[in-house]
Amino acid sequence: MKKVVLFSFSCVLMMLAVSYTNDQFKSSSLKAAFKHKFLIGVSLNNGQIWGRDTAALKIIKTHFNSVVAENCMKIVSLQPREGQFRFRDADQFVNFGEKNKLFIIGHTLIWHSQTPDWFFVDADGNDVSREVLIERMRRHITTVVSRYKGRVNGWDVVNEAILDDGSWRKSKFYNIIGEDFIRLAFEFAHAADPKAELYYNDFSMAQEGKRNAVVRMVHKLKGLGLKITGVGMQGHLGLDYPKVADFEKSILAFSAAAVHVMITELDITVLQNPGRSMGADISQNYTYKKEMNPYAAGLPDSVAKILEQRYVAFFKLFLKHQNKISRVTLWGVTDGDSWRNNWPVFGRKDYPLLFDRQYKAKPVVQIISEMSLME
Ligand code: XIL
Repeated sequence: MKKVVLFSFSCVLMMLAVSYTNDQFKSSSLKAAFKHKFLIGVSLNNGQIWGRDTAALKIIKTHFNSVVAENCMKIVSLQPREGQFRFRDADQFVNFGEKNKLFIIGHTLIWHSQTPDWFFVDADGNDVSREVLIERMRRHITTVVSRYKGRVNGWDVVNEAILDDGSWRKSKFYNIIGEDFIRLAFEFAHAADPKAELYYNDFSMAQEGKRNAVVRMVHKLKGLGLKITGVGMQGHLGLDYPKVADFEKSILAFSAAAVHVMITELDITVLQNPGRSMGADISQNYTYKKEMNPYAAGLPDSVAKILEQRYVAFFKLFLKHQNKISRVTLWGVTDGDSWRNNWPVFGRKDYPLLFDRQYKAKPVVQIISEMSLME
């Protein structure tokens, strides 16, 4: 009899211990779990910025402490025609960020993509001179950065200026101005808001050539006495690329160049790129074929598991280098919002984010939160 009582008593104790452990680790939110490690951010689309997507708003407010505009601060949105600035959506985005006390990122001041043609040509359609393009850059950057002075905390000043092999992307900015366009963009942004953090942002940053070129660029800007606060590693990842070890090499290399490292556009596609490309060049576009869309009816558990393991592996890496990483930002709230459903093939069904189409947190949210809380 005594033995039975003792046994039941120890069972109750064990149960209590287990539930205590669970409660201890049950984090109410990602931002609580990663507090004191790094900011955890998300990109917002216009439905979220204007409050139409109320279910997404709940997730944003609960889980994230930093926001970046997915599209409304790109040149095509802010200055679709020369001198005609449109700030409605961007104003609303910044108001939203301030109201919710979020660390606000402006994306992006200078990028070869989503920049209207007028930016580079004269009335006859010919490329403008170096001086004219510099003046257009100056005017755009100064107008935008001054408008949000003291409100936008950090800017992606230049996006995607370097190719995977480390050579310069032959964009209109590069072809007309030369590599100086990068220095000038940082100068103009700094003059407009001396306190704002300023970043260089790019994809495929785990590639050796790009890594080395970005390090050289950071040294060069710093050598000229310019402010560059951080390097953003767009995290458009796949299930089998890049290698975690290569990504780690880049975190270490950028940090050694004395800048903060940010993972700026995290998503992990479960789909193949028909071009086998591992980057995020948004000009890629392949015609839809049914066989390219294998998970239209749902994601098999086996693939969901691989996706989960990828997220765990990368968050393990981010936590390992938490003293070098200042922010990790997801590129979208739910799988339904993700640009990956439409790039590089329009109309596929992808599952790249932390929340599913029903606005439910995937199990990995709890796993990475616990990983962080256990550190
Ligand atoms: C993407 C947006 O998510 C899409 O909505 C838009 O149609 C194209 O651009 N690298 C970047 C981001 O820096 O601005 C891109 O965002 C994705 C790749």
